[in-house]
Amino acid sequence: MSGDRPSPASGAPLADTFGRTHRDLRISLTDRCSLRCTYCMPADGVPWLAKDTLLTTDELVRVARVAVEAGVDSIRLTGGEPLLRPDVVDVVARLSALSGPAGAPELSLTTNALRLPELAVPLREAGLERVNISLDTLRADRFLSLTRRDRLDDTLDGIAAALAAGLAPVKINTVAMRGVNDDEIVDLARFAAERGLHLRFIEQMPLDAGHTWRREEMVTADEILAVLRAEWTLTELDGRGAAPAQTWLLDDGPASVGVIASVTRPFCGDCDRLRLTADGQVRACLFAREETDLRAVLRSGGSDAEIDAAIRRCLLGKKAGHDIDDPSFLQPTRPMSAIGG
Ligand code: 5AD
Ligand code: SF4
Repeated sequence: MSGDRPSPASGAPLADTFGRTHRDLRISLTDRCSLRCTYCMPADGVPWLAKDTLLTTDELVRVARVAVEAGVDSIRLTGGEPLLRPDVVDVVARLSALSGPAGAPELSLTTNALRLPELAVPLREAGLERVNISLDTLRADRFLSLTRRDRLDDTLDGIAAALAAGLAPVKINTVAMRGVNDDEIVDLARFAAERGLHLRFIEQMPLDAGHTWRREEMVTADEILAVLRAEWTLTELDGRGAAPAQTWLLDDGPASVGVIASVTRPFCGDCDRLRLTADGQVRACLFAREETDLRAVLRSGGSDAEIDAAIRRCLLGKKAGHDIDDPSFLQPTRPMSAIGG
């Protein structure tokens, strides 16, 4: 397909060659972050994206509008830390005004929560529906060594602010790490259950800037479930759909815990996600080694049809799966903070 031609059928679903339809767009608003989580960023010397390569708000809203018109019905804002973008409330307001065949997109955001005390209410009022918050430990000393910043209390304040603002459900992302926080699995699950938070344990993926990931150091979903089973009776809930988490009721509920087994039980076959990086590259997968340069299309006066065609071209290159568990797997060249979670 040529990028100069108009899109094949405006409004046709965003399909790939494996019959997957793409409805979930993840937009990275910045590659900067106020933390330095070890599984994501190096302590210092991060090669930041050049400022003039970052999409302006007009540019990213335009891409989102074209995607929503092509059937995207949910948009997640990511980073880096998306709340570091100075106009994030305005971005949310503009995205929530979009409309496509499925109506307005559902808007969510993945954050480290540090700016939620002041932003949770304005974000909710601007149209944000829910947030996913990263929390890997409840111990201040571990938080410091894991994120290289002494901010546990601020994170907990941010979680409380999200709950108070009604950004429901508030989901918590916890990356399980051997010898680091795997002895807190029960404590974290209980902490979440007591507050009505939806916690999901995530298998660690090879996405860190330092390329230090080792398969043997990853805590698997089976190990996480075994630890939880020693404490609670787990009943699996159906209806996972395209969602990466499998959800388990703790005893008879209502509290539940999710497990995202990205490595040992990949969910690529149901993947409906595509990504836009802060510097305007479309990625069909977190682990893709190719990107499609939408910034170039935008800045050379490309039409909406050309933006649509570039997105579809990118999806045609989407692979069946990531093959992390295969010895031939190659980590993406950019770290998670530059791709968007
Ligand atoms: N493996 C698994 N999850 C990760 N995250 C960031 N890096 C990794 C990784 N290497 C998760 C964090 C955060 C979200 C953006 O992605 O938990 O909540
Ligand atoms: Fe920041 Fe999220 Fe990366 Fe942690 S995982 S350093 S909070 S972008």
